[in-house]
Amino acid sequence: MNEPVDLKRRRLVQLTGLSAVAATFPQFLFAATATSPPHQASFDFHPDVDLELTARPAYFPILSGPRTNVWKFYGKLLKGPEGSVQEIPGSFLGPILRLKKGQKVRIRFHNEVPAESVVHWHGLHVPAEMDGHPKYAIKQGETFVYEFEIMNRAGPYWYHPHPHWVTARQVYSGLAGLMLVTDEEEQALNLPSGDYDVPIVLQDRTFDSRNQLSYSDHMMTRMRGFLGDQILINGQAGFTLPVATRAYRLRLLNGSNSRIYKLGWDDGTALTVIGNDGGLLQKPETRPYIMLAPGERVDLWVNFKGRQVGSELVMRSLPFTVSMHGGMMGGGGMMRGGERGGMMGGGMGGGMMRGGGRGGMGGGMTGRGGRGGMMEGGMMSGSAIPLGSDYPVLKVRILREESDDSALPQRLSSITRYRLKDAVNSEQPKTITLSMRRMSALLNGRSYKMNDVAPDEIMALNSLQLIEFDNGFEGGHGMMMMPHPMHIHGLQFQIVKRSIKPGFEKAYQSVSEGFVDEGWKDVALVMPGEKVTLLKRFDDFKGSFMYHCHNLEHEDLGMMRDFLVR
Ligand code: C2O
Ligand code: CU
Ligand code: CU
Repeated sequence: MNEPVDLKRRRLVQLTGLSAVAATFPQFLFAATATSPPHQASFDFHPDVDLELTARPAYFPILSGPRTNVWKFYGKLLKGPEGSVQEIPGSFLGPILRLKKGQKVRIRFHNEVPAESVVHWHGLHVPAEMDGHPKYAIKQGETFVYEFEIMNRAGPYWYHPHPHWVTARQVYSGLAGLMLVTDEEEQALNLPSGDYDVPIVLQDRTFDSRNQLSYSDHMMTRMRGFLGDQILINGQAGFTLPVATRAYRLRLLNGSNSRIYKLGWDDGTALTVIGNDGGLLQKPETRPYIMLAPGERVDLWVNFKGRQVGSELVMRSLPFTVSMHGGMMGGGGMMRGGERGGMMGGGMGGGMMRGGGRGGMGGGMTGRGGRGGMMEGGMMSGSAIPLGSDYPVLKVRILREESDDSALPQRLSSITRYRLKDAVNSEQPKTITLSMRRMSALLNGRSYKMNDVAPDEIMALNSLQLIEFDNGFEGGHGMMMMPHPMHIHGLQFQIVKRSIKPGFEKAYQSVSEGFVDEGWKDVALVMPGEKVTLLKRFDDFKGSFMYHCHNLEHEDLGMMRDFLVR
């Protein structure tokens, strides 16, 4: 009855018969198993912060009524400053790890879930063996001890599992948490802190009638990415943020498997951005709305001064169009073979929609309002709130009057821009083409394979590289096109430019003002027909570092590769 999703899937595997499953997903037969014993605590590493992080099944209250089976990270501080491990009350998310640049950190990861797992510190610059590569996955009952120094500047990083083929399912089950790093530069700014510095983790989930998480393995879902029926904030349903009439810092993380948000305030107030993936920008920037793809973070400065006590403000995801040249929706080929029933199931449940569907993923969906449109959109996307529709994300209620003297600093940090001419390949960018075919999502036509590094994936240690992600900009894009939030492990990169292919501009205009490409990034959303060019350094550590689509279903489908730094 009340099984976490991985157990459900196991049963599904049994019921279906292994051979049938293996024929559909041959990778199931090659589960990743660590070749060397898991890393243990070393005697010559003297941690400033020493903690335990245990992944365990939990039976957790999320909705009213029955509890929900989740997998949850539990933290315990063994040594280090008080507050280094901060639970979010009432949340299935892992504790917030509050760390400081320069600290030596030991994290004893105990795997107590019935599956292999490994933890990745998204955005942190750590040695390859400490980066949560799937080859270091440990079995249930085992412990892997991570030891590294925090080399990153202040910023909103996060942690989540990264095992082979099943990352999406494990994150969906609840395994994820924030890591907020601070440093002296940030502290000197006196930004809103304590209760006025609010973590906001956005995720979408679908619950069945018994309040259990439901997840679909259908190939259609895997190709498109899983979209849930309702938005959870910090693991909570029906979340309202109570605020006073003063300045706040909101740290948003999109921890969803595949959902892309176009965030804007419902009264049209512009957003003030002070930071993103890799920490503070040089100076505050404003945007009418912000695109936030899976894995991306944005640090907002919001002043509620002058607002009526008792009033509400809602951050919505605003409508946008994704052009889908290549015919994922048109041809209908993806929808055959028993997919329809499954897609219909989640269609109507969420109740968060305002005024029916506002256009789904494909051009064909746009403009069909009302109930019919919503049904169809729901069916096409498998969600009550289709990608690109208009729905509320975060409700803020002004609770009390309070004055503060915090002013928005006009200078936040200093960032030295990389120079194109300093790249070892400034004349010859490394191009990574993104493509999707039936049953696969590819990088340069390749699917993920452990210990399989192509010559163009070798990076010289301490080099600056010019890299471009090409999502159908130059040509061949496979059978369908989708947005891909591309992530590279290791040091953050700088985005140099975005180019859009003629013919794709119209859909692109619905998102193009929402990118925050200033500062340091580790995820870049690449829209259909777009090419994103960036500069990235591969410093300090040799070894395998992954790059992949952070649409977690795409990642598990094989849209991932390793760079070998040597
Ligand atoms: Cu957030 Cu390789 O992942
Ligand atoms: Cu990462
Ligand atoms: Cu993708």
